[in-house]
Amino acid sequence: MAEQFVDLRSSSPRAETRTIKPCPRLEGEVVLPGDKSISHRAVILNSLAKGKAEIDNFAPGGDCLATIRCLRALGVKIDRQGSRDSPTLLVSGTGEDGLKEASNVLNAQDSATTMRLLGGLLSGQPFLSVITGDVSLRKRPMGRLIEPLRLMGAEIWGRERDSFAPLVIMGKKLHGIDFTLPVPSAQIKSAMLLAGLFAHGNTILHQVIPSRDHTERMLKRMGASLEGQGDSISLLPLGSPLVSVNLRIPGDISSAAYFLVAGAIHRNARIVIRGCGINPTRTGIIDILLAMGARLKIANKRTEASEPLADIVVESSELKGIEVGGDIIPRLIDEIPVLAVAGCVARGKTVIRDAGELRVKESDRIATVASELSRLGAKIEPLPDGMVIYGGRPLSGTEVDSYFDHRLAMSLAIAGLVAKGETTIKHAQVAQVSYPAFWQTLQQGLNTDKS
Ligand code: S3P
Repeated sequence: MAEQFVDLRSSSPRAETRTIKPCPRLEGEVVLPGDKSISHRAVILNSLAKGKAEIDNFAPGGDCLATIRCLRALGVKIDRQGSRDSPTLLVSGTGEDGLKEASNVLNAQDSATTMRLLGGLLSGQPFLSVITGDVSLRKRPMGRLIEPLRLMGAEIWGRERDSFAPLVIMGKKLHGIDFTLPVPSAQIKSAMLLAGLFAHGNTILHQVIPSRDHTERMLKRMGASLEGQGDSISLLPLGSPLVSVNLRIPGDISSAAYFLVAGAIHRNARIVIRGCGINPTRTGIIDILLAMGARLKIANKRTEASEPLADIVVESSELKGIEVGGDIIPRLIDEIPVLAVAGCVARGKTVIRDAGELRVKESDRIATVASELSRLGAKIEPLPDGMVIYGGRPLSGTEVDSYFDHRLAMSLAIAGLVAKGETTIKHAQVAQVSYPAFWQTLQQGLNTDKS
């Protein structure tokens, strides 16, 4: 299958605007892309393992393709088969042979998960690596990665006094540390666990607020000696390579969130979402929508590949505003842009706090969500660590910008479904970072146009 490098910011024919019109009825079944976070981990860990692995329903978006490209450049054989929207990867793990020095700079493109996880892994490999990214990723904080890795003995540097990518890494033997994560970041936690696999001694990590635990689950499944989950994790270095595993990636709850909110805020809707990951470290959006009064049912719970999943049905609801903050924030951090759309439609005030991390995502999501939803008629007051949304004001379509942020583009589309008139979203192609079939999924059941 051909894989092309996509420059999201080029003004080529790939640049798109999308126009969304309100539709009288929203009904159908949504087929989700594979979970992005789990897919990154599945391909990275199987690349290190001994044996071959088949990974079904791999996340089809640009972020996970960037991880595949980097791993291939590090000597891993990865074949991609199946459909564009639900590919299967065949990964030949490097096992005892290990990764090889790449002959060029690695490019994580827009994917912080790629850069940070590989940053940790490569710090413990015996060769030089340079990792760069696109203009947005090169502005995102890397000091939070560099500092703890240096405590493990890593030789890793970044631009502007170790603040930003490109990163230069002279890999070496590291040592485990006992460390409390200052930010609840699964990327930093996972980077340290990947570094710890190749270090001398235990790596012990404490989390003040737990973040997503996909790395821990998969490491255990592949034979690593990892104990604890939640507050404290203790990892022993690998005595022998990880054991490869075949797995099917659950549907991405972060992608499901657009349709959960769409179903809840639309006046005439019933949407069924099958095979959605419901790992408790990710289900904050479900908890909050239920607390807002959403008519949402979870059925057919099961476990695949050490991850829980279920089918979800959502129907038109009367939402009310709510206060969101504290420990739940890492469990819904990527869903806050679309949660803000729910807040605009809900009765009363929705207050989001403790979410300063939004400022260092693909865009400053406090600023961009507030500015673009305000263009549609919403009343939103940005806060340093969140926003206040005064719900219940009618939205009306106009031209809005995605700021090349996939989650903002898709959230604006959902707002467009309930706005009066047409909502035109600039740079809508950015949705391909996590959900290439998003526009098609909207178009199939719903009344949207491509212009
Ligand atoms: C991710 C962790 C989160 C999340 C990101 C994916 C991961 O970032 O926002 O989209 O796969 O580990 P942080 O680790 O920066 O919180």
